[in-house]
Amino acid sequence: MGEIVRLQKYIAMSGIASRRGAESLISEGRVTVNGNKVTEQGIKVEIGADSVFVDGKPVKTKNKKYYIMLNKPVGYVSTAKDQFDRPTVVDIIKNDISDVRIFPVGRLDYDTEGLLLLTNDGDFTYKVTHPKFHMEKTYIAVVKGGMTISGINKIRNGVYIDDGFKTSPAQAEILDAYDGHTYVKITIHEGKNRQVRKMFEAVGNKVVGLQRIKIGNVELGNLPLGRWRHLTSYEISYLMNR
Ligand code: URA
Repeated sequence: MGEIVRLQKYIAMSGIASRRGAESLISEGRVTVNGNKVTEQGIKVEIGADSVFVDGKPVKTKNKKYYIMLNKPVGYVSTAKDQFDRPTVVDIIKNDISDVRIFPVGRLDYDTEGLLLLTNDGDFTYKVTHPKFHMEKTYIAVVKGGMTISGINKIRNGVYIDDGFKTSPAQAEILDAYDGHTYVKITIHEGKNRQVRKMFEAVGNKVVGLQRIKIGNVELGNLPLGRWRHLTSYEISYLMNR
């Protein structure tokens, strides 16, 4: 069985009108479903089964699924639209993919860069972001100053953030220390707001740069900053079937 959606959404998915525009087409009596004129809003249709016509012409939904990896730069919000009109991650891809609505899979902070997934497949988003799947996410944190072994161990064992929430055991490893900064690779499988920054704060360290390099075993690799690519079929099925 195909996905069941509201008629205005179906029309919008085809790209011929926005949802609002589709509502006007319906109320103007220009839409038929399985040969019957529909003027009331909100009726549901099944993709692939019901036949929808606008002005006598068949409307086909673009049912294609997109799975995208972006190397997000600092200075972009991970939403489709920002209340303060700041640039969004969707702005980066929308020149190339403009006929479908694609959404970020989870989020990275405005001041975080690195691996962000985007898709129009809600099931995929669920698999990657729902806490019950414990998807590991790996980051490189640039920490101001030095870090003690005891600080790293506390982060590994779990620290208290957000009014008593104790983070789960994490992997953390000092990679390097130079120019007054310490570079730490950290893997967590939770997704509290600004979690990595708060974990370091909990042990008295400030994160001054944060980059996500991996989700599960899918790696950012050498994708340049601000560029995107399609996921491979291997990456999609790995993330879907974990
Ligand atoms: N943890 C953070 O602090 N920020 C992010 O963007 C992601 C994880």
